[in-house]
Amino acid sequence: MTPCLLRTIEEVRAQVADERRAGRTIGLVPTMGALHAGHGALIDAARAGAGFVVVSVFVNPTQFDRRDDFEAYARSLESDVAFCGERGAHAVFAPSATEIYPPGHSTFVEVTGLQDPLCGRFRPGHFRGVATVVAKLFGIVQPDRAWFGEKDAQQLAIIRRMTLDLNLPVAVESVATVRDADGRALSSRNQRLNPDDRQLAPALFRALRTAQAAIAAGCTDPAAVREAALAELRHIPRIEIEYFEIVDPETLQVVARIDGPVLIALAAWLGGVRLIDNVRAFAPAAG
Ligand code: PAF
Repeated sequence: MTPCLLRTIEEVRAQVADERRAGRTIGLVPTMGALHAGHGALIDAARAGAGFVVVSVFVNPTQFDRRDDFEAYARSLESDVAFCGERGAHAVFAPSATEIYPPGHSTFVEVTGLQDPLCGRFRPGHFRGVATVVAKLFGIVQPDRAWFGEKDAQQLAIIRRMTLDLNLPVAVESVATVRDADGRALSSRNQRLNPDDRQLAPALFRALRTAQAAIAAGCTDPAAVREAALAELRHIPRIEIEYFEIVDPETLQVVARIDGPVLIALAAWLGGVRLIDNVRAFAPAAG
């Protein structure tokens, strides 16, 4: 199936209105393109959960804190459209930057608190850009449901909060992180890793698993868990850890003691490429 390629807000609105008239529910999968099997899992979930699936492909300039990162971000619209067709999406919405941010655009969405820790500490303005573009996509496409990946755990928490706070009539759904056989989380940024660094990247997931195992074994001290995990990475000097935190999954604030569910989240640099990953962990029940 070849999905229809929609370039303007008017086109996407007209198409969505037709589908609604035909009684179909609308699903949205927001992406920045360079689609891979992780996005494929989002499209599959959307296909199962909505009658008409729109995939947006838009490299959103307002969420990049560095111009060079924005410019280096992989762009591959033709193959993205083909990918969406193979996965059964019905439409691809690929607007220009001025379609989304026309001259005079001055409104931004900030989810205070949740936007500040973890990636927010190192990427000023990033989540303001994400929340703004997702709010706009919700307003443009007006989906019943929208799907996001759990690899971007902070983004997901922020989008859920924003949707709740702004009373947006969209159900925010999530899909588990898709990994290579060696554990590396799929990401559009992996394309920029050189072959040697690709071999090193799974060490990040192994460190997360070490932390997860320490918690499952009863360690309640975040510093000790962190130390055990980071010890695994010290012999790989090419991996530069930006943060490795054990946080409350709702508030994203670091925990002083691990006595309930936690999110273990990291960001690291590898050969000039910034990677993020996370896992959930659960302290064993007391008694
Ligand atoms: O996760 C992404 O690809 C982006 O942050 C999103 C949600 C499409 C907003 O630009």
